[in-house]
Amino acid sequence: MTRISVSVPATTANLGPGYDSFGMALELRNEFSAQLADDWSVAIEGQGADVLLHDGGNMVARGMAAVFEAAGQPELRAEIHCLNRVPLGSGLGSSSSALVGGATLARMLLREVLDSKWRISDQDLFGLLAQLEGHPDNVAPALFGGFTICWTDADAPDVPRCEHFQLVSPMAAVIVTSNRELSTAYARTLLPEVVPHADAGFNAAHAGLLAGALVSGRLEMLHVAVADKLHEPYRAAAIGDYDQVSAILREAGADAVAISGSGPTVIAFVTGFTPNSAFIKAEGIAEKTADALDALGTRNAPQAVGFAVRGFMPM
Ligand code: HSE
Repeated sequence: MTRISVSVPATTANLGPGYDSFGMALELRNEFSAQLADDWSVAIEGQGADVLLHDGGNMVARGMAAVFEAAGQPELRAEIHCLNRVPLGSGLGSSSSALVGGATLARMLLREVLDSKWRISDQDLFGLLAQLEGHPDNVAPALFGGFTICWTDADAPDVPRCEHFQLVSPMAAVIVTSNRELSTAYARTLLPEVVPHADAGFNAAHAGLLAGALVSGRLEMLHVAVADKLHEPYRAAAIGDYDQVSAILREAGADAVAISGSGPTVIAFVTGFTPNSAFIKAEGIAEKTADALDALGTRNAPQAVGFAVRGFMPM
C-alpha cells in the first residue's frame, strides 16, 4: 500500500496589529505520513504524543476525513504517523498544521493511490479547513507559506478569503515559548466586545504600515508597525511576563516583538542583509537572551527560526 508524506510549517498569526487576519509561516515543520487502512489509527512522536488523540478524533485524521467527505468518499480511513515539532497550545498554529497535513495527505492519496478525478484547489481547501478550524489566519500560511492576509467580504461574513505574499527582504525570528499553556478560546474571552474608534483607527494605520513594510521590504518600519491596540494589551496581563520578555528581546537587538497568535509564545522579528545573516542574528539573540529568559522561570529556551517561503510540502 502506498505511503504518502507531507511537512507542514508552524505559523504565527496576528503579527501585532493584524488581529485575526495576518499570518506567516515558520521553518519549524511537523511531518505527517499516511496510507489507506481499514480504520483510523494515529501514531505520534514528539510534541503532544501523550495528550493528542490516536483515533479519528485526531486533527490530522479530521483534516483527512473532511477531504474524503468532500470528495464523496466518506468511508475512507487511514493509518497516520505524526512527527510533531510544533508545541501545542502555544500560539504557533499546531492544530492548523495538523489539519492542513491531514487534508493535503488525503488529497494526494485520492490522486495518486485511488487515481480519483476529483480535484480541489488550494483556495478551496483553505475555505474548507478555515471553517473547520475556525482560525483562517493560521490555516492560510500553513497552506500557502510566506505572509498571508485573511478577510471576509461584507456581504459574505462566513466565507473566509485569503491572499499570500512573499517577503522581499530577509527576515528570521526568535520564538520564545512558555511553560504555561493559554488556550485560544480563553485568550479570546479576554477581549472586549467593543473597542474605541480611536483604537480601531490606530490598528488600521499600523496594519497597513506593516503589510507595506513586509511586501516592499522596507523593514526599517517594522518596529513602529507592529504596535497593536486590539488584542495585545488585553492578553498581556494573562500572559503575565510579556512586557519583560519583550524588553529582553528588544534589548538584545530584535527589530520588533509581538505575541504569536493568541500567545503565550512571544515572537521577535529579526532582519538581515541575507536570509543567512538574519538567521545568524536571530541565533545570536536567542543565545544572548537565554539566561535572562530562564531567570523568569516561565519561559523555555528561545529558538531561532527562519520564515517559510512554502506552506505544506510533499516529502
Ligand atoms: N487570531 C487568533 C487570535 C489566533 O488572536 O485569537 C490565531 O488564529
